[in-house]
Amino acid sequence: MKKLTLLVVLLVLMACGSSNRHSVLVTNSPKGTLKLSFELSQEGSPFYRVEHGNSVIVDTSYLGFEFTNAKALHTNFIIANTSTTSVDETWQMPWGEQLDVINNYNELRVELEETSGLTRKMNIVFKIYDDGIGFRYEFPEQDGWTEALIKEEHTEFNLTKDYKTFWIPGDWEIYEHTYKTTQLSQVDALKYVNHPNLAQTYIPENAVNTPVTMVGDDGIHLSFHEAALVDYSGMTLKVDPETLTLKSHLVGSENTGYKVKRNLPFSTPWRTIQITNNAADLIASNLIVNLNEPNKLEDISWFKPKKYSGIWWELHLGKTTWDMASGRHGATTENTKRYIDFSAKNNINGVLVEGWNTGWSQDEGGFDFITPYPDYDLKNVVQYAEEKGVELIMHHETFGDVSRYIQQQDTAYALMQSLGIKSVKSGYVFKLKPEGEYHHGQFMVNHHNESVIKAAKHQIAINAHEPIKDTGLRRTYPNMITREGLRGQEFNAWAEDGGNPPEHLPIVAFTRMLSGPIDYTPGIFNIKFDQYKPNNQVNTTIAQQLALYVVIYSPIQMAADLVEHYEANPRPLQFIKDVGVDWETTKVLNGQVGDYVTIARKERQTGNWFLGSITDENRRSIEVNFDFLDANQDYIATLYKDGKNAHWDDNPLDIEIESQTINKSSKLTLNLAEGGGCAISIIKKGE
Ligand code: NOJ
Ligand code: CA
Repeated sequence: MKKLTLLVVLLVLMACGSSNRHSVLVTNSPKGTLKLSFELSQEGSPFYRVEHGNSVIVDTSYLGFEFTNAKALHTNFIIANTSTTSVDETWQMPWGEQLDVINNYNELRVELEETSGLTRKMNIVFKIYDDGIGFRYEFPEQDGWTEALIKEEHTEFNLTKDYKTFWIPGDWEIYEHTYKTTQLSQVDALKYVNHPNLAQTYIPENAVNTPVTMVGDDGIHLSFHEAALVDYSGMTLKVDPETLTLKSHLVGSENTGYKVKRNLPFSTPWRTIQITNNAADLIASNLIVNLNEPNKLEDISWFKPKKYSGIWWELHLGKTTWDMASGRHGATTENTKRYIDFSAKNNINGVLVEGWNTGWSQDEGGFDFITPYPDYDLKNVVQYAEEKGVELIMHHETFGDVSRYIQQQDTAYALMQSLGIKSVKSGYVFKLKPEGEYHHGQFMVNHHNESVIKAAKHQIAINAHEPIKDTGLRRTYPNMITREGLRGQEFNAWAEDGGNPPEHLPIVAFTRMLSGPIDYTPGIFNIKFDQYKPNNQVNTTIAQQLALYVVIYSPIQMAADLVEHYEANPRPLQFIKDVGVDWETTKVLNGQVGDYVTIARKERQTGNWFLGSITDENRRSIEVNFDFLDANQDYIATLYKDGKNAHWDDNPLDIEIESQTINKSSKLTLNLAEGGGCAISIIKKGE
């Protein structure tokens, strides 16, 4: 790590009193794109500002805390010390959207001390990147203060414009809302408190969840989130429509008077603002992972990115059930072998089986994560999969009974390890036990982080559903592979509000996806599935379902449809068979938040490229310049594109598949239908 002394401009604004009290500390990003200023008010209250070029993005925004066991900490400070560092390093992702990640920022550390009373100390650390800013509070070890019971964090983001905002409500229980697009001043989260499609929901304030993304008339793109959420509670952002200010509003608990309990010394998660000139650069930004600590696991080679199929969509369609009592049990030995055979034939290396263990019916006494239903021979299935070169993916649904799960986790992980099962999908649907805790509070943040550490000891990777939001912890614990944490494909199978609208994923790519990998479970070919659910459907074309394998990133990608639906469509299935899951490079070629996005990714092992382009309910033509391809190399590009009459509702299955030779100087126009897309495999010629 390269440490340099930075140029910190120290302006003494006023000559009275302590010279430190009225200093403005200014730090620029490495290329000077962003400028951070920090200052204390007359009363000694800390505040900051962020500028991008000539515009003020975040104006005077105060910082502070309230506690249940101590006086508020937000005023009466002096700057006791400041220091600066500069870092320019490259680290490697064991799996990811790219191999090499550049981590280049200038850091400003401000050490504050109260001038009277308890003379408490608090540091604020800013990391200024060219594509955004992260800052966090440090509570150093100090005399007379050992435990902080945080009632509320008061971090402000005082915005200067009424941005177009892409948001979901600040729900303490779930992120599975459709995205709303309004001006910031029109955010009205309380309108969504009664939501018939959500198994648990609690929206106490006019607040939004993060990442929340905003677009300005001048082309500025902003996204607010947090990084390294460890031993703290999740942060929602309260919106003040009058002043256009966002204020931190931490998720609480009904069981304690506080929202966060920590012993000193400790640091809060990073509060982040990504700031770019266009939508594509938001996706390309690595700010969130960069703000996390380096890999703490010695070896992660036991986890291999993969595609997977499984007993899942058929459950959501109602073809079969999780429980046995219905007489239509899905997770039978025979049915699982059918998915294993199909996967082995189609370059899909994993099979998820939901409903394998007892506890799905109310009279079965809860889940134990060990006992298979009598028609599911776990050992036999594992052995069969191994013979076929396929790995089983374990399923642990808790129904929110976390207390029970914690008691059984060691045994459940040990069983998996003994069977050689390397990954688990966990689920936390419904209200929690212990009662009074919320899905996004400190209790669950700790549960998820402790689970990942425990799982690593058993060489197990986790895909969590109804999780805490991703804040980049995969850098520190790369066995935290993916998660849901959004309105996933499942809503298309049963939601009473028509499922995920065509604009959903063109918004998700610029909001939820900025936080990390998504287990969206793409690849539904039987778009209307009238045989099972005449009133539901997927609201995209089949070509868009293919494009999602590239656009939506996850190191495990599900081929979610039923075996028979794939077998009826061998030509589009070829794309799922070919597409990579682990990337050396990612290029976000174009996009507009909520409208469309085109991403190309280069596969690590082969050097082949894959491209995905998706659009909302509007049809459009996308120009693609293939200048990102390797020089002196021809490729066979196979395009899976919307047919001339394709339309997400009227004609979703209209797809055209054609191949042509392309190279670095090629250019193509992709015609995307309403709710459509285009997927391209770009395979090196001569190999
Ligand atoms: C909700 C999860 O998101 C879904 O994928 C899963 O099938 C069900 N819970 C049952 O565990
Ligand atoms: Ca879910």
